[in-house]
Amino acid sequence: MHGIIFLQLQKFIKASSSPEVFSKIMDEAKLRGKFFDATKAYPDEELVAIFSATCKTLNLDPEVALEEFGKFITPPLLVTYKPYIKSEWSCMDLLENIETTIHRVVRASNPGATPPELLITRINPNEVQIDYTSKRKMLSLGIGIIKKIAEHYNEKVTISKTAIPNGTRLMVKKAGTGLK
Ligand code: HEM
Repeated sequence: MHGIIFLQLQKFIKASSSPEVFSKIMDEAKLRGKFFDATKAYPDEELVAIFSATCKTLNLDPEVALEEFGKFITPPLLVTYKPYIKSEWSCMDLLENIETTIHRVVRASNPGATPPELLITRINPNEVQIDYTSKRKMLSLGIGIIKKIAEHYNEKVTISKTAIPNGTRLMVKKAGTGLK
């Protein structure tokens, strides 16, 4: 997983606790003193270890914490990947382009980073369908990202989930449009 995600997870923990608790969590994850570089990639197991230690220590529900973490990382991700986000895009345009533009750039520029292969379909101007089938089972992170992207565009969206083979389908719809 991309070093940016590790650095942001460490910031997220510090923002939700204290330097002492942060050290305790890194101890619990058996990664005390580990330094993460934003230009490198690290084993998923290390992210899982830090995240599990965080939920245990702060008594957080993992799915809720993952969604909150998704919201937390979105502003810095939008800054880092700004050159690839067209200024004329709306919230739905950006969502439609996550796979073909953004995750593709992440893969090309960070050899070790493997964002999920999302299957994205623009159903109509106000609705996007996103199929998530990653083995990492981090959908709640994606939901947090979507909610924060909508907030960034000052838009409200509804997100509904249905099961598909090996994953989940999200229907993201601009709220109040009355379109099906
Ligand atoms: C500007 C928008 C976005 C940027 C810059 C971005 C970037 C990234 C990056 C850098 C990673 C780490 C990949 C790795 O290290 O292997 C990642 C992972 C991920 N992304 Fe995105 N992403 C964006 C939008 C989205 C959206 C809208 C979703 C909605 C489903 C999403 C779902 C995920 C998930 C679930 C992961 C965790 C890895 C996994 O499940 O396999 N991302 N993304």
